[in-house]
Amino acid sequence: MTVKEYLLELKKYSQYDFSEYSDNSIQRRLLKILEEHELDMNKLLEMTKNNPAFVENLVNEITVNTTEFYRDTDVWIEYALSFLDKIKIKKVINIWHAGSSSGQEVYSNLILLDAYGYLNKSNIIATDINQVVIDEAKKGEYRLSTNLRNIEQFQKDIDKSINGDHLLKTIDFKKYFSESVTNDRLEIKQFLKKVPLFIKHDLVKEKLPYEVKFDIIFCRNVLIYFNTSLQSRILKMFHDRLNNGGMLVLGSHEGVSGFVKTRFVKRGNFFAKNNIFHLKY
Ligand SMILES: C[S@@+](CC[C@H](N)C(=O)[O-])C[C@H]1O[C@@H](n2cnc3c(N)ncnc32)[C@H](O)[C@@H]1O
Repeated sequence: MTVKEYLLELKKYSQYDFSEYSDNSIQRRLLKILEEHELDMNKLLEMTKNNPAFVENLVNEITVNTTEFYRDTDVWIEYALSFLDKIKIKKVINIWHAGSSSGQEVYSNLILLDAYGYLNKSNIIATDINQVVIDEAKKGEYRLSTNLRNIEQFQKDIDKSINGDHLLKTIDFKKYFSESVTNDRLEIKQFLKKVPLFIKHDLVKEKLPYEVKFDIIFCRNVLIYFNTSLQSRILKMFHDRLNNGGMLVLGSHEGVSGFVKTRFVKRGNFFAKNNIFHLKY
């Protein structure tokens, strides 16, 4: 049985559909799992059919969860200058982090929202298919050494790229977490942790269980694992879920193509919802 055939079986026997993930990454990861668990394809299929806990674990192992605070610092600086600077008058800001992994992306955003005084008017939903990383995100505890380095890099890049005064330069990042050097722990403060709603949600199979429309959707470094037709379907759904004038933030190697291309207008690192689009069949 090939990996592709197995994924079709997985779709039949579980709630998960990885059949439209791009071949290379899923193939590599599945073969690695087989090796680590000393399984062959037949045994894997048998476990898939009979053991839901095994399937959950498999899903957690298949997904790539790499993330960090202020990943691609230029994107966050642009986010502050071209989005946060301009939305002062909005009464409510609805934000969706889709594929939020262990939460560093969400807390990166929350720190900026608080610095701008927007925290009380922000509704944040953060979703991921992987329950383990969702639990980590809720806990908000990370390794101090690596994560602090990413935050400090962001501060350095702010100072390098913004001339003159700007609110970004005044942020006291240490206000948002406690540090334990002996335990190598960085823990996000409770007043931030309680803001986002972290929920397990599968972008491919499930409708988001909230009707709200978003002002900005972050879906960074997730679509890269999907084939082009699945990417287009998810992008169409994001278009529908954005308010007019809403923005989509993708990973630095991701873009909008296919039949949804005209539904977004690229602005710097962002994709603005376009309502005047030409239908393409
Ligand atoms: C590489 S991480 C990106 C994390 C973060 N957005 C960033 O850019 O740093 C990709 C995340 O997408 C999640 N993911 C993969 N397939 C998904 C799906 N169908 N629905 C929701 N999340 C998914 C994975 O579990 C993983 O946590």
